[in-house]
Amino acid sequence: MGCILTAVAILYVYVFSAAVAARVLPLHPYLNAEQKPLSNVFDTSKYGILQLSNGLALTPQMGWNSWNFFACNINETVIKETADALISTGLAKLGYNYVNIDDCWSEFFRDSKGFHMSSSTRVTFHESGDAKLFASWFLYLVVQFIRVDYLKYDNCFNLGIEPEKRYPPMRDALNATGRTIFYSLCEWGVNDPALWAGKVGNSWRTTEDINDSWASMTTIADLNDKWAAYAGPGGWNDPDMLEVGNGGMTYQEYRAHFSIWALMKAPLLIGCDVRNMTKETLEILSNEEVIYPLGVQGRKVYAYGSDDCYQVWAGPLSGRRLAVILWNRCSKTASITAKWNVLGLESSISVSIRDLWKHKIVSENAVASFSARVDGHACEMYIFTPSSETHRAS
Ligand code: GAL
Repeated sequence: MGCILTAVAILYVYVFSAAVAARVLPLHPYLNAEQKPLSNVFDTSKYGILQLSNGLALTPQMGWNSWNFFACNINETVIKETADALISTGLAKLGYNYVNIDDCWSEFFRDSKGFHMSSSTRVTFHESGDAKLFASWFLYLVVQFIRVDYLKYDNCFNLGIEPEKRYPPMRDALNATGRTIFYSLCEWGVNDPALWAGKVGNSWRTTEDINDSWASMTTIADLNDKWAAYAGPGGWNDPDMLEVGNGGMTYQEYRAHFSIWALMKAPLLIGCDVRNMTKETLEILSNEEVIYPLGVQGRKVYAYGSDDCYQVWAGPLSGRRLAVILWNRCSKTASITAKWNVLGLESSISVSIRDLWKHKIVSENAVASFSARVDGHACEMYIFTPSSETHRAS
């Protein structure tokens, strides 16, 4: 695990819609059906208890981060070209606004007096063990020289200070700058940050680092799922940055990665080289139908088949809609079924179903269940809109 404070500047801010994600009330209680869901899709009982409420993160953050593709191989040209590419590809317009310079930026950083903030300087400051001093020093430095809009604060060199103690001083220092700075906690889920980070930061990593593989991506999705009830506008679970476009997974696997991250209302931080994307990578990252629906974190609601590899994931959206994913985590094509009861719907409800990858309505009035054939390691993603007649009946 690499370690350093990650300072982030929004180089180009193209906020097109600052829509407010809304909490959504349950459509219907569960019925006594033969299939019990793994998790109540509408359970947001833990959300909102602790929220930081600094006005940020009404929806999960979107942007780009240098780490997954470049690691330490960054320089000014890469960052500037990336910012330009985010605009020329249309990604910035879609909401990918933060340009996050991850580890190793300090190697290139000099203040106006020519002070070079090298690794050894970093270590000295970390070794002071005084989180408050460090926070105020760091903030003084960055606010003087760079317009910082986002801070990802790693947990390396923590000197054994518990995350619950280590992270709040940086929040206080950020607040004291008078700027509104997105605060992204990165303690890798070690002290279950969902339980306490809502009053500290705008997002909190729930897992160790992702890598560009199917095994890593699926494991991380499952780990992050556990904390669904704690996330919502203002504070989100962070299962780490996207690997889409980095070459270690197939097109279908990347599409599943992106769909599940969007359904989980995870930060959508692109981790590939956006200057050199394939058509397929851009198509995945630009799917507005997948990105935009407002709601709270969706979760795995049903799993069956060998090793539970046929999975139904779902989450409540605004307008009494549901995001639904049929995910085939086996390697062979299979038909996967979502029954209404695992989605928290009465079986008589008529539902209109829009396929978010085919970009069309695939059923006007499905009742009781919906099935689709899904390729191995692929997923299909939908918006379910229950009929208005049903709404009146409820
Ligand atoms: C890790 C962090 C990664 C990345 C890396 C850089 O601790 O989890 O997301 O920032 O440090 O070294």
